[in-house]
Amino acid sequence: MKRTDIKELFSDPKTYLNDSVTVCGWVRTWRDSKGISFIELNDGTCLKNLQLVAEKTIVDENALKPALAVGTALEVSGIFVPSERNGYEMSLRQVTVLGECPQDYPLQKKHHTLEFLRTIPHLRPRTRFFEAVLAVRSELSFAIHSYFHSHGYKYVHTPIITGSDCEGAGEMFRVTTQPWNAKEKNESEYFANDFFGAKAGLTVSGQLEGEIAAMGLGRIYTFGPTFRAEHSNTTRHAAEFWQIEPEVCFCDLHDIIEIAEDFIKYIIRAVMKACPEELAFFNERTEKGLLEKLEKVVASDFVKLKYTDAVEILKKSGKDFKYPVEWGCDLQTEHERYLTEEHFKKPVFVTDYPADIKSFYMKQNPDGKTVAATDLLVPGIGEIIGCSEREADLGKLKDAMAKRNMPLESYLEYLDTRKFGSVPHSGFGMGFERILMYITGVQNIRDTLLYPRTVGSL
Ligand code: 4AD
Ligand code: MG
Repeated sequence: MKRTDIKELFSDPKTYLNDSVTVCGWVRTWRDSKGISFIELNDGTCLKNLQLVAEKTIVDENALKPALAVGTALEVSGIFVPSERNGYEMSLRQVTVLGECPQDYPLQKKHHTLEFLRTIPHLRPRTRFFEAVLAVRSELSFAIHSYFHSHGYKYVHTPIITGSDCEGAGEMFRVTTQPWNAKEKNESEYFANDFFGAKAGLTVSGQLEGEIAAMGLGRIYTFGPTFRAEHSNTTRHAAEFWQIEPEVCFCDLHDIIEIAEDFIKYIIRAVMKACPEELAFFNERTEKGLLEKLEKVVASDFVKLKYTDAVEILKKSGKDFKYPVEWGCDLQTEHERYLTEEHFKKPVFVTDYPADIKSFYMKQNPDGKTVAATDLLVPGIGEIIGCSEREADLGKLKDAMAKRNMPLESYLEYLDTRKFGSVPHSGFGMGFERILMYITGVQNIRDTLLYPRTVGSL
C-alpha cells in the first residue's frame, strides 16, 4: 500500500501541497455540515488528525454514508490543501473502506474517563491519551538507550527466570511446571521434581547478574521487565514493571548520584525535544504546569539530604503524620511527599539510610549503623530510583547476609565477585513507569502500561 504518514504531511507540508496523496487510518470523528462531510482521520504516527473534506458527490459516489462511522479503517486519496482552521487538510477524492466499524464500538464519544478505558485495554491505543502515553514511552526508551550507549555502557540482558531474590522481600512470583495437585511429601522434594530441579521465580531486579557482568565489562546497564508480587494496591505499584539498572565499577555513592542526576536530566530533555505535542497535550490534560516543572527540573540541582537530617526536618515540620517519625523508621509516602512537595519542592536524594531497613548488598558506612544508599524522591510520585554503593568486602557482605538469614549457598557465584578482584562499584534501579508518570503527569501506573498487571487483575 503506497501511502504517506500523517506525521510526514504535517512536518513537511510544502513537499505535498496541492498534490495528490494517499493516507490510511481510522476515523476519529465525523460530521456533516451543509452537505459537506468533515472526517478526522488518525493513523497513529502523530497526535494530529488529518481532516478530510468530502463534497456531497464524493460521499454519494463512494456510498460512504452507510459505511462510515467512528472507528472505521480507511484508505483515502485526495489533494493536500491549505486550510484556515487546521493549517492543512485533504480535499477527498477516493475512499476505500478497509474495515467497517459497527455501532457497538465503545469509543464513540470524544472523551472517556481513564477508569472506563481501563476496562477496554485492547482499544485504548485508539485514543488520543494512549497514543500520547505510548509515544512518550517509546521515545523515553530510546533516550535511555541513547544515554547509556553514548556514555560507553554495554547493554546486558539479565535472566528473567532466576533462583535469587535480589531484594530479599519475598515478593517473587514462582515459576513452575508442577501440577496443582503434586504428590510430593515435602517442599524440597516438590522443588527437586520441578522443571529446573530447584525453586525458581521471576526476577525482581537484574542487579545481581548486572554486577556479575559489570565485574568484567566495567560499565553496564539492563533495561527489562521485573516482577513483584506486592500486594500494595496503589497508583504507583504494578506487578510487572520495567526497570533500568546501570552498574558501574570504580564508582562510589557520590559518583553514582551524579550519574543518576545527569541521566534523568538527559532523558527529560530528550523527551521534551522528541514529543512537544504530546507534552503540550499532557500539560492541558493531566498536569497544569507540567512543561514548566520539566524545564525547572532540567535546570536545577537536585537536593542531597542525609536520612538523619530528613528525620529532623520531618520532626520539626509540625505535621500530624499518620506514621510517626523516629530515627530508624522507613520513610512512608506521606514523609516522602512532605520532603519533596512541601519542604524542597524539587527532587531529593535521601542518602545514608539505616542499614536495618535496606538490602543486604549495600555498602556499610563506618558508623556501623547506616549504608551508602540513596532513594531519589520526586514530587507527585515519591521514590523513582533506589541506588547504592555495593558492599565490596567479602566478610562484611557475608555478615549482612547471615544477619538476614539468607542461604549463602544460593549466592556463591555472587560472592565470588567479592573474592576474585573485588572493586568499589555502585548502581541504581529506576522504575520506568514511575519516571514516565513523572514526565507525563499521568497519575496512575495502570495508564502507562499497555496491559497493566496488578494484584487481582490480569
Ligand atoms: O528500590 P528497588 O526495590 O531497588 C532495586 O530493585 C535495586 N536492586 C535496584 C538497583 O540498585 N539496581 O526498585 C527500584 C525502583 C524503585 O525506585 C521504583 O521506581 C521501581 O523500581 N519499583 C516499582 N515500580 C512499579 N511498580 C512496583 N511494584 C515497583 N517496585 C519498585
Ligand atoms: Mg526502593
